[in-house]
Amino acid sequence: MNVRIDVSNIKLETDRLILRPFQEEDLTDFYAYASVPGVGEMAGWTHHTSMEESKKILDIFLQEKKTFAIINKESKQVIGSLGLEEYDEEYFKEYEDQRGLELGYVLSKEYWGKGLMPEAVHRVIEFLFDEKNLDFITCAHFIQNSQSRRVIEKNGFQFVCEGVYDGKIGKFEDRNYILRKEDYRNGKI
Ligand SMILES: CC(C)(COP(=O)(O)OP(=O)(O)OC[C@H]1O[C@@H](n2cnc3c(N)ncnc32)[C@H](O)[C@@H]1OP(=O)(O)O)[C@@H](O)C(=O)NCCC(=O)NCCS
Repeated sequence: MNVRIDVSNIKLETDRLILRPFQEEDLTDFYAYASVPGVGEMAGWTHHTSMEESKKILDIFLQEKKTFAIINKESKQVIGSLGLEEYDEEYFKEYEDQRGLELGYVLSKEYWGKGLMPEAVHRVIEFLFDEKNLDFITCAHFIQNSQSRRVIEKNGFQFVCEGVYDGKIGKFEDRNYILRKEDYRNGKI
């Protein structure tokens, strides 16, 4: 079953990053990475074309309280997001008695290829299993998105099935993965 986790008042830290809830002051940084063509498109949304558009999405983040802003400690800028989303229960029927959610993430193109998102995801996995006691975490990527596939693989998720994501900018074949608490606890990641 899907579980909602409120990220208000939560601050997580890694060597290079801080994860904390989005704030109104993040608008400029958010627009800077969300307006770059080809970034959001890999995650199912079109790049932002105005600050107003980013403001609307930021307002949703503030209301929903389920998305972390990812801050680069060095520059102190917001360089991405990591959301605790609803997973598609259709693909994980055998887990209906257990507590889970899906991770969704985006990183500023400037910072790709430095292992930053795997580092952020790893910290959130620790938080969800060790502090929130979830049973499993899911993740999905569009079939062509090998960059996201690598983040998922680096964190020890297991492939479950292919599916179809029917979103705002169209239908995409995707691949769905799971990480179960027992595999995490057994040190398989
Ligand atoms: C997916 C994403 C978060 C990965 O973050 P990251 O911190 O760059 O992850 P990594 O550094 O581990 O790199 C992952 C893979 O990207 C590829 N990659 C690295 N640098 C790259 C670059 N500059 N351009 C394109 N691909 C690159 C490599 O194949 C790398 O895998 P490897 O480490 O095995 O070589 C990031 O690419 C992104 O924000 N993409 C757009 C949004 C998106 O796809 N979100 C996920 C939706 S499911």
